[in-house]
Amino acid sequence: MAQHVRGVIARAKGEPVELTTIVVPDPGPGEAVVDIQACGVCHTDLHYREGGINDDFPFLLGHEAAGVVESVGEGVTEVAPGDYVILNWRAVCGQCRACKRGRPQYCFDTHNAKQKMTLLDGTELTPALGIGAFADKTLVAAGQCTKVDPAASPAAAGLLGCGVMAGIGAAINTGNVGRGDSVAVIGCGGVGDAAVAGARLAGARRIIAVDIDDRKLEKARSVGATHTVNSREADPVEAIRELTDGFGADVVIEAVGRPETYRQAFYARDLAGTVVLVGVPTPEMQLELPLLDVFGRGGALKSSWYGDCLPSRDFPMLIDLYLQGRLDLDAFVTETVGLDDVEEAFARMHRGDVLRSVVVL
Ligand code: APR
Ligand code: ZN
Ligand code: ZN
Repeated sequence: MAQHVRGVIARAKGEPVELTTIVVPDPGPGEAVVDIQACGVCHTDLHYREGGINDDFPFLLGHEAAGVVESVGEGVTEVAPGDYVILNWRAVCGQCRACKRGRPQYCFDTHNAKQKMTLLDGTELTPALGIGAFADKTLVAAGQCTKVDPAASPAAAGLLGCGVMAGIGAAINTGNVGRGDSVAVIGCGGVGDAAVAGARLAGARRIIAVDIDDRKLEKARSVGATHTVNSREADPVEAIRELTDGFGADVVIEAVGRPETYRQAFYARDLAGTVVLVGVPTPEMQLELPLLDVFGRGGALKSSWYGDCLPSRDFPMLIDLYLQGRLDLDAFVTETVGLDDVEEAFARMHRGDVLRSVVVL
């Protein structure tokens, strides 16, 4: 039986979100219905509402979630009712060229639920990133569910579904930060701070946090930064060099997405160092660099998409590290709110007042 539950939708471009009744069908073959327990508020949800992603309104928002599998459709073997899961927005196909070459992080054919959730009048909803978890329940592909230890609180666990995984993964997967490395993180919002936490987890010796806001720098210290630089007050490239005995950082992680910070990241790395780009620029942004600087420094420029994560490998591991007290996911939860507070949470996120607001159900 299809169920009627509450969900937060964006009905039209730029309009405030709306808490309404949605219809969640029974899971079809390969699908699961998940009872959502918590879902973080991410910039991408706001981008959907603003029409910055596509025009497939109405959207069912929310995509950083943890919950309990309620029911599964035919042929589902990945999870069973009662499993505590984190949802991911990239369930890989196992068949494409990337999957077959052992690099499923670059899968070209990710799977979402085939059936549609709807409004009461039958209007089809587009779930944000194929998830739609600002809702009591949602319908996903079973491969979007990764079972983790139920001892982890839903508010903390859900964060691994998007931004926090992107940051941690930028450090440990894309940047391959190693024991003793110097790491600089430019931009210390939720993603940058997660990169700081990832660098600490990987055994970095120096972790230099750069931001334009002292509140953010203080927070970055609390998750593992050993040094901080306010780039309104000091040239961050020079500061990073000074803090790394004149060399530059082994790994520089850019988590803003602007030309000037891309440039800083580029010049703040040591010879043969790695630059990891996590901040997402807008289409009109350009960066001009002397080719000799691109050529002459060696090393690698990498972009990091979803932290190059493999949910089945990374989610259970990071949850275990969290439960052992080695990764403080709770530090990323600034506040917990209700389903009726998403619009207000967007405003606080926009003002930079929070790392993450998490809707708890
Ligand atoms: N230099 C340094 N820091 C900056 C600058 C700058 N010029 N401009 C902004 N910042 C800081 C902000 O003060 C803030 O702390 O960058 C941080 C951005 O954080 P959030 O807005 O909270 O964004 P977050 O969720 O962390 O995402 C960062 O990563 O995945 C991408 O799409 C995401 O592009 C976004 C980026
Ligand atoms: Zn694939
Ligand atoms: Zn997100």
